[in-house]
Amino acid sequence: MCVVAKKLAVIGAGLMGSGIAQVSAQAGWDVVLRDVTDEALRRGTDGIRASYEKFVSKGKLEAEEAERALGRITTTTDLDAAADADVVVEAVFEKIEVKREIFRALDELVKDDTILASNTSAIPITKIAAATRRPERVVGTHFFSPVPMMGLCELVRGHKTSDETLAAAREFAEGVGKTCIVVNRDVAGFVTTRLISALVVEAAKLYESGVATAEDIDTACKLGFGHAMGPLATADLTGVDILLHATDNIYTESQDEKFAPPEIMRRMVDAGDIGRKSGEGFYRY
Ligand SMILES: NC(=O)c1ccc[n+]([C@@H]2O[C@H](COP(=O)([O-])OP(=O)(O)OC[C@H]3O[C@@H](n4cnc5c(N)ncnc54)[C@H](O)[C@@H]3O)[C@@H](O)[C@H]2O)c1
Repeated sequence: MCVVAKKLAVIGAGLMGSGIAQVSAQAGWDVVLRDVTDEALRRGTDGIRASYEKFVSKGKLEAEEAERALGRITTTTDLDAAADADVVVEAVFEKIEVKREIFRALDELVKDDTILASNTSAIPITKIAAATRRPERVVGTHFFSPVPMMGLCELVRGHKTSDETLAAAREFAEGVGKTCIVVNRDVAGFVTTRLISALVVEAAKLYESGVATAEDIDTACKLGFGHAMGPLATADLTGVDILLHATDNIYTESQDEKFAPPEIMRRMVDAGDIGRKSGEGFYRY
């Protein structure tokens, strides 16, 4: 019997979209990766190829398996290529209007039973789903970076997401090797971004007020709580700008003071000290 592979469309070939395409192709999905420029698609597929090669060189993946997986990925700048997808995962910039525009267009295009997922790390799924006429088929699949290495996928139920859609999203995410947690209420920042935001905000306040050095705050979390990385080193790695934006979003929505970013985070972003990518953040690189 011939089993027809399921088709996945990934919208956005950046860090997350390419990672999602990579693990899905490896799990047997036919993947079409869509971005707005050929250059972005080339960067995305170069990254996927390099990552597969690394797994092969470490003996974690057979070279033929990597070749087969690469062969399952096609690229395009045409959104119409998503028309026959069973699942679509959107992973474009964290801008609500860009995401809503894509979901509006996908709603016109895809099959009635297609699952529409967003990889947003903080935007309420309900706001994205409201751009479609099928909010029950829209769900959050928040993968973690780097996708080929990280085991977690946070599934987010929008206000109208159906049980069937959540189950299908779980089947997809588990099928590509992830363990899922379910966010049952569509709160800004979900579970994971709220937790890391609260920790980073408090760590930055302690640092700002001179209670302890960045090194000591991070050491407290590593040796005291068993965290793999301290919150300030995490902020530098993720980007202070990205965390400021995320915490600001959660604060605006929740009006909960514990998410109010301290002045130091704003001034660091104003000064361009956004962490590893700029050479300076809470630490110097
Ligand atoms: N980077 C992370 O650590 C991380 C972790 C979890 C979730 N996320 C979320 O995943 C999403 C993507 O993040 P990223 O880090 O991969 O961003 P990125 O900047 O690396 O990639 C975004 C890509 O989207 C493309 N794009 C923009 N508009 C598009 C459109 N209309 N159609 C198709 N492609 C379009 C861009 O050209 C770019 O290649 C965001 O919502 C982000 O919040 C990021």
